Amino acid sequence: MSAVFNFTFVPWFRSVAPYIHMHRGKTFVVGIAGEAIAAGKLQHIAQDLALIQSMGVKIVLVHGFRPQVNEQLKAKGHAAKYSHGMRITDEIALDCAQEAAGQLRYEIEAAFSQGLPNTPMAGATVRMISGNFITARPVGILDGVDFKHSGMVRKVDAAAIMQTLDLGAMVLLSPFGFSPTGEAFNLTMEEVATSVAIAMQADKLIFLSEIPGIRIHPDQPESEDNPIDTELPLAAAEKLLATLTPGERPTDTAFYLQHCVKACKAGVERSHILPFAVDGSLLLEVYVHDGIGTMVVDEKLESLREATHDDVGGILQLIEPFEKDGTLVKRSRTEIERDADHYTVVEHDGVIFACAALYPYPEAKTAEMAALTVSPQSQGQGDGEKVLKRIEQRARAAGLQSIFVLTTRTMHWFIKRGFVQVDPEWLPEARKRKYNWDRKSQVLVKKLN
Ligand SMILES: CC(C)(COP(=O)(O)OP(=O)(O)OC[C@H]1O[C@@H](n2cnc3c(N)ncnc32)[C@H](O)[C@@H]1OP(=O)(O)O)[C@@H](O)C(=O)NCCC(=O)NCCS
Repeated sequence: MSAVFNFTFVPWFRSVAPYIHMHRGKTFVVGIAGEAIAAGKLQHIAQDLALIQSMGVKIVLVHGFRPQVNEQLKAKGHAAKYSHGMRITDEIALDCAQEAAGQLRYEIEAAFSQGLPNTPMAGATVRMISGNFITARPVGILDGVDFKHSGMVRKVDAAAIMQTLDLGAMVLLSPFGFSPTGEAFNLTMEEVATSVAIAMQADKLIFLSEIPGIRIHPDQPESEDNPIDTELPLAAAEKLLATLTPGERPTDTAFYLQHCVKACKAGVERSHILPFAVDGSLLLEVYVHDGIGTMVVDEKLESLREATHDDVGGILQLIEPFEKDGTLVKRSRTEIERDADHYTVVEHDGVIFACAALYPYPEAKTAEMAALTVSPQSQGQGDGEKVLKRIEQRARAAGLQSIFVLTTRTMHWFIKRGFVQVDPEWLPEARKRKYNWDRKSQVLVKKLN
């Protein structure tokens, strides 16, 4: 094995660890457009979902079947009929939909049953369970158009889905629902996925779609200056939706967005639109900081806040590499646990990306800022400065006149931000006693106005 491989693989694998820990035990509802299966993407999607499930995520999979139903209709010499952006499901279309759903279910179950050696599915044992979890009602007659067997979700048996997931199985749903009279109704994958995510209060709703996500300027063509907006706060998503023409086709910007917004407003914190055309898009979205598609989110993902005891593990993980290379002095878990409320952290999507601690010396009207750290993957984006400003605020609020740092390697960063070097003799008496003269740290002070 080449030595270079160790240096790429190990840090890469470790960088994924916080996401693996964070998603364990969470529930994701994943809606796959029928077009993805028609485009031959099922094998890879199954492999990625099996991997995500193996890391402790509970998955409900909802498949679409628009192109497959149309194909069946074509074979029967029957035209697909739509109105109001919905299929009109007559008797023949209902037959076609049932045939298409049956066929797709077999294909999906087969894809998840693979286990050939030397493939990502080797050793995977994914059990798929389907069932009559959705109660439907007819769309009825809209503006004089009778939608016949096209339906809407009336109720989701979230408790039964959860029990099935708790067995360790993946739940597979076709876009069908049944009425209390035993009638079958053709639903849309998007509505089923959204309703299930809401009913279960899932942690994520993910659409694997034909579109790559939502661009920063959605009405302008793809370009380097118009990349995918990876994080759309709910308020911005709602505002955008109001300016768009209603999404009737899956390639319309508003089409998936309307479902994401609906889910988010109903308590599903994160809804994602991902391109199935990109191999591994699910893994890239779930296990990489910025992701690849658009995530509609019902909170400010990145938050600067005071730490709590729950953050101790995250802080330790963040500062450990810098303690090992000598940039920071070693702190024990006990010490951090004891001092957790001295810390300020930047949290992104449940992961701690930056921290610093403030230790006041009120008798000298100053405080030490210690353990200022920004995770290597997000350095250079201003987080260091943000944390410094918050620490300054905390010190000011405590009536202190200055803050100081001890550093061996980061002097210039602090000087650029208003610190000046002083002699270690300047330190408050209590701190001077703990000063390690061998380490020869430089002492830098910043006056607070
Ligand atoms: C120092 C540190 C906290 C800065 O965090 P950050 O989020 O990258 O900082 P910002 O984005 O606010 O600032 C980035 C700027 O600082 C500069 N910088 C980063 N590390 C530096 C260092 N050791 N010395 C001087 N400048 C440094 C960058 O080059 C960049 O400069 P630019 O704006 O001119 O391009 C971060 O690099 C870190 O965690 N370092 C390891 C731990 C450490 O040294 N902590 C201080 C212990 S006392």
